[in-house]
Formats: sequence, C-alpha cells, structure tokens
Amino acid sequence: MGSGIAEVAARSGLSAIVREPSDDLLSNARERVSRSTTAAVTRGKLSEAERARLLDRISYVTDIAALADCQVVVEAVPEKPELKRAVFIELDRICSPTTILASNTSSIPIAELAGVTERPERVLGLHFFSPVPVMQLLELVRALRTSDETVAIGKALGDALGKQVIQTKDRAGFIVNMLLIPYLVAAIRMYEEGFATREDIDAGMRLGCAHPMGPLQLADFIGLDVTYEVCNSLFDEFKDSAYAPPPLLKRMLAARMLGRKSGQGFYSYR
Ligand code: CAA
Repeated sequence: MGSGIAEVAARSGLSAIVREPSDDLLSNARERVSRSTTAAVTRGKLSEAERARLLDRISYVTDIAALADCQVVVEAVPEKPELKRAVFIELDRICSPTTILASNTSSIPIAELAGVTERPERVLGLHFFSPVPVMQLLELVRALRTSDETVAIGKALGDALGKQVIQTKDRAGFIVNMLLIPYLVAAIRMYEEGFATREDIDAGMRLGCAHPMGPLQLADFIGLDVTYEVCNSLFDEFKDSAYAPPPLLKRMLAARMLGRKSGQGFYSYR
C-alpha cells in the first residue's frame, strides 16, 4: 500500500519518498508504481506527460534518515503491533519535531503507536484502502492526544489527494473494518462448514448486493495474513466472537496460503 500512497501523493503534485529497508523491496515498489501508472494511462486516467511528471516526484531510498525533513510520514509496514511500534520509535528519533507521523494501520489503536513517541499530539491514523489509486476513501483516526492542528492537516492532506475523508475515534477496526471483518469472518465460517461453495458465496454478494468482489475474493485480495491480524486486533479489543479468526484462516496461513500475493488463497492465482 505504501507505493500506492506515494503514487497518489505524486499524482496530486506532492513530492513523495518511498522508503523500504532493502534494494529488492525498493525495486518491487518502483515496479508497482510503474505498473499502476501504466494501467492509469491505458485506462485514460493519466496522460503520458502527467505520468512522467508523477514518476519524477517520487524518490526511492533505503535509508530512513532521508525522511527527516518530511512534513508527513505515513507508515505502512506489515500489520504487527511490535513492528509498527519499533518504526514509530525510530521515526520519532530521526524526524524533525514538526513532522506529523501517520499510520496506515487497518486496526491497531493509534494511541498505542503515539504512546511510544515524544510527540503524541502529532500522531494520527490515515487509513487508505486498496488499491490506493482507485479507492476513494481515507479514514482519519484521531487518538486521545492528537491535536486539532494535526487533524486539520490530515484532513487537508486527504482532500489534496482527492480522497473522501471520514473521521473516526480510536478503536480497533475504526469504522470500516469494524463492519467489514465480521462479514468476512462469517463468509469464511460458511465456507469452512461446507454450507456453500466458495463460488456461490462470492456470487451471492457480487450479484445479490452489487459488491465488486465476493467476501472470499476480497479476503484473498486484502491478504489472508492481513485479514488474520485485523481479526486478532478486533478480537483483542472487544473479546467478541464475531471478530475471532476462524480456524481455517489460521491453517491457511500455516500452509503459506496468503491469498493473491502468494498465488493461492481461497482461489488459485497461479
Ligand atoms: N489509477 C487510477 N485509476 C485506476 C487505476 C490506476 N492505477 N487502475 C484502475 N483504475 C480505475 C479504472 O480506470 C476503472 O475506473 P472507471 O470505473 O472509471 O472505468 C476502475 O479503476 C476499476 O479498474 P478496472 O476496470 O481495472 O478493475 P475492476 O473493475 O476489475 O475493479 C477493483 C478492480 C477496483 C479492485 C474492484 O474489484 C474492487 O473495487 N474491489 C473491492 C476492493 C476493496 O474492497 N478494497 C478495500 C479492501 S479493504 C482495505 O483495503 C483496508 C483494510 O483495512 C483491510
């Protein structure tokens, strides 16, 4: 999602820096931006000249110190609380005191990340949706100590990126995943119990409710590892079985079936 966020920022005329910890990951990010912007040109969303300007506005680095003078840093590392906390500690150390630190977390309470920094008033959630260049929504999460000024800057940034900003308080899952996760969990349980085929479950929601994807397709698209981590955050927060990850989901992760990204999830993508 990080490369998608950088792409949208650059499309809106902002300079963006993509930071990955290794050259291999960095070249994957560059490749994703290249593929996505080529698709945008093919679909008539960008001209070739706009694409070239967009690509010029993005730089790619492995050294986190390159983020020191950014106005806003959006963290988009995997959905593991301990990893996100470590990134926030490092960003707080190297970034200018005026830099706003945002997390693209799907479900981890922002106060947990703000709490490891010396600038909790400058920390907020900016939760994008996948694919970032296509999806219109941005959830802006205000934690207990986020300042009014930080919220206003987050909102102005979302507007500048052309997103529809919705504001939410700081509870695991925020607005969207609190609604989406019980739905995905119910679909996985339905499939696990053999109540219906995966194709019929998905067709039911695609054709019966006009969703672009059925729930099992969507879980594969989000990534089963991400889906599992978001279930855990919500279950940890509310202790409600509607959020508990189904055993099948856990078994699929153990079998390295992560959805589209690994080539196999509820469906095969090989
Ligand atoms: N830049 C700009 N626009 C682009 C683009 C790009 N790189 N790539 C595609 N588009 C545009 C296309 O031009 C098209 O626009 P129009 O409708 O105006 O013609 C639109 O995006 C759809 O593109 P495609 O025709 O290529 O793709 P599709 O119709 O097969 O749809 C999809 C693909 C957008 C992924 C669709 O299946 C979909 O919306 N799926 C659901 C996605 C979803 O729910 N995402 C949220 C997941 S939850 C999450 O992310 C957060 C979390 O916390 C877990």
